[in-house]
Amino acid sequence: MKLTHDSIERNVGLLIILVVLVVSVGGLLEILPLFFQKSTTTPVEGLKPYSALRLTGRDIYIREGCFLCHSQMIRPFRAETERYGHYSVAGEFVYDHPFQWGSKRTGPDLHRVGGRYSDEWHRAHLINPRDVVPESNMPAFAWLAKTPADAAIVGAKMSALRKVGVPYTDEEIAGAAKEVEGKTEMDALIAYLQGMGLELKGAR
Ligand code: HEC
Repeated sequence: MKLTHDSIERNVGLLIILVVLVVSVGGLLEILPLFFQKSTTTPVEGLKPYSALRLTGRDIYIREGCFLCHSQMIRPFRAETERYGHYSVAGEFVYDHPFQWGSKRTGPDLHRVGGRYSDEWHRAHLINPRDVVPESNMPAFAWLAKTPADAAIVGAKMSALRKVGVPYTDEEIAGAAKEVEGKTEMDALIAYLQGMGLELKGAR
């Protein structure tokens, strides 16, 4: 059989095989280089792995579904950079497993929210957003202020992250529980928010 456009389109089995082949090769060529390119694998200057408290806060962010309304991905457009600051670059996320880029923006992008407000603002906002932003439709997360953060598990999380390449030291893992002990989930979440996007904050 001659392989013509016509004969391929009339032979479903052959069409499926060729489509799978084309999509796989195309996909590999697109995706594989990202694992080896410097711009995607090298951390930006000053980037540190999450501290035990911030890592705990990050998991609360994920558990509470903050990502359903907030992205962490500033696109390189003027309207975005004027509002949020420097656009996001891949090297800022090398220690994020999984990253929280997202695309749903019911609320503002949070990638450079670190340092924009005081801890007290965040506390008031999370307990009842309408107390500080009257027109807000963000849900309240008041219980976080009364829930103790889980100090027992954070060391194990850090060891697991080390296995996928996050450079935690033995001392950091050993001291992890101590850093989180006595803190509430609210403290951890605020610590996470306050450290977000600082590396390129002042950059132009
Ligand atoms: C149902 C959607 C929704 C969810 C879920 C949500 N937010 Fe929001 N968020 C908003 C909206 C809308 C705003 C803008 C109004 C305001 O500031 O309250 C906002 C604003 C914010 C701001 C202020 C950002 C700025 O630059 O002014 C922070 C910080 C924030 N949210 C954090 C969180 C965190 C942390 C969580 C999870 C615990 C969360 N949000 C969950 C909708 C949401």
